[in-house]
Amino acid sequence: MVQGLDGVIAAQTVLSDVDGQAGRLVIRGRDVASLAAGFRFEEAVTLLWEGFFDLPDVAGLAARLGQARQAAFGDLAALDPVLLRLEPIEAVRALAARLPDDETLDGALAILGRVAAFTPAVVRLRKGLDPIAPDPARGHAEDVLRMLGAPSDPAHVRALDAYFCTVIDHGLNASTFAARVVASTRAGLTSSVLAGFSALKGPLHGGAPGPVIAMLDGIGEPAGAPAWLEAALARGERLMGFGHRIYRVRDPRADALKDALRALALAGGGDPRRMRLAEAVEHAALDLLRRRKPDRPLDVNVEFYTALLLEALDFPPDAFTCVFDLSRAAGWIAHAREQAAGGKLIRPQSLYVGPQPIAA
Ligand code: ACO
Repeated sequence: MVQGLDGVIAAQTVLSDVDGQAGRLVIRGRDVASLAAGFRFEEAVTLLWEGFFDLPDVAGLAARLGQARQAAFGDLAALDPVLLRLEPIEAVRALAARLPDDETLDGALAILGRVAAFTPAVVRLRKGLDPIAPDPARGHAEDVLRMLGAPSDPAHVRALDAYFCTVIDHGLNASTFAARVVASTRAGLTSSVLAGFSALKGPLHGGAPGPVIAMLDGIGEPAGAPAWLEAALARGERLMGFGHRIYRVRDPRADALKDALRALALAGGGDPRRMRLAEAVEHAALDLLRRRKPDRPLDVNVEFYTALLLEALDFPPDAFTCVFDLSRAAGWIAHAREQAAGGKLIRPQSLYVGPQPIAA
C-alpha cells in the first residue's frame, strides 16, 4: 500500500507540471517566475482556462469577472452574525456554497467573483467596519485591495497579481485532487471547488501561512530564531512554511514571492525589519532541519513568503487561506473541467484490516 498516495499518478493534465527534483513549476507552458513577474490574474485565468470554456479575450473576461464581483456583493446580506463568528475561511466557504452547480463560464466566474467579494467584506465586518462595494471596472487584484481598504497603488496591485499568478495551479496537490475526485462523480463546479476549499484549509496545506506569522511574532528578533525553532522541534512541532511532498529542493514559488516582496520594498511597501527577521528564520530553520533530518531534504515552501507578502498587503493572517482560494479556485475549476471531460470516476480501494465475521 502506498502511504498518502505518494508517487501515484492519478490524472493526466495539460495544466501544470511540478518537477520536485529540479525545483521547477510550469503552468501551461510558462515558468512560474515569468507568470509571477509579468501576468495579471485575468491573463493567468485566460491562459489556464483556454480550451475548457468558450472564452472572450482578456478584456472581456476581466469585465465579466468585475460583474461577477458586483453580483456577489449583492448577496452579502446572507452573511449573518452566526457566519461572522466563524473563521474567515469557514464564513467565505459557507457563502460560496450558496451558489448552484453551473458548468458555464458565468458559473465559473461567479465562483471567482464570490470569493473575491466576500473575503475583504468578511475581514472588514469582523473588524466592525462596513464592507466596501466592488468596482467592476477595476482589475481583479486592484479591486480586492480596494475592497479591503488597503493601499491599491500600482506596486501593491502588482504584488497581489504576482501572488495570484504564483499560486493559481500546482499539479495534483491535496486540494486539487479533492476537487478532481468530486468532479469525477460529475457533481459540478461549485461542488468541486468546495471540496478544494475544504482540503486547502488544513495547516499541512494552505492553512500554513497564518501559523508562519505566529512563528515570526513568537521569535521577535533575528537573534532569537535558532533557540525558538530548536524548542519547537523539540516539542515535536513542524516548522510551518518548510517541507514539501514533491519538492526535494527549494520551492520555486518561494523565490517568485520573494522577488515580488523585493519589488514592493523598492516602491516603499512592506517592512524591511520583517524581511530581515524572515531571512534569519529561514536560514536558522534550514540549518536545523538539515542537521535533524540529514536524509530528508526539507526546504522552504511557498507558504513562508506567502505569509510575508500577504501581511505586507494588509491581509490579516486568519484570512490568508481565503486569499489563496481566491486564485487557486481558478485552478480547481480548470482541473474539474479537465476531469469531467475525460476522466473516469476516481474510486481507489482500501485494504480491510478489521475483524472478520465470527462463524456461527
Ligand atoms: N518541520 C519539521 N519536520 C518536518 C517538516 C517541517 N516543516 N516537514 C516534514 N518534516 C519531517 C516529518 O516530521 C517527518 O519526520 P519523521 O520521518 O521522523 O516522522 C519527515 O520530515 C517526513 O515528513 P512527511 O510528513 O512524511 O512528509 P510529507 O511529504 O508528507 O509532508 C508537508 C509534506 C505536509 C508539507 C510537511 O513538510 C509539513 O508538515 N510542513 C509544514 C506545513 C507546511 O508548511 N505546509 C504547507 C505546504 S505547501 C502547500 O501545501 C501549499
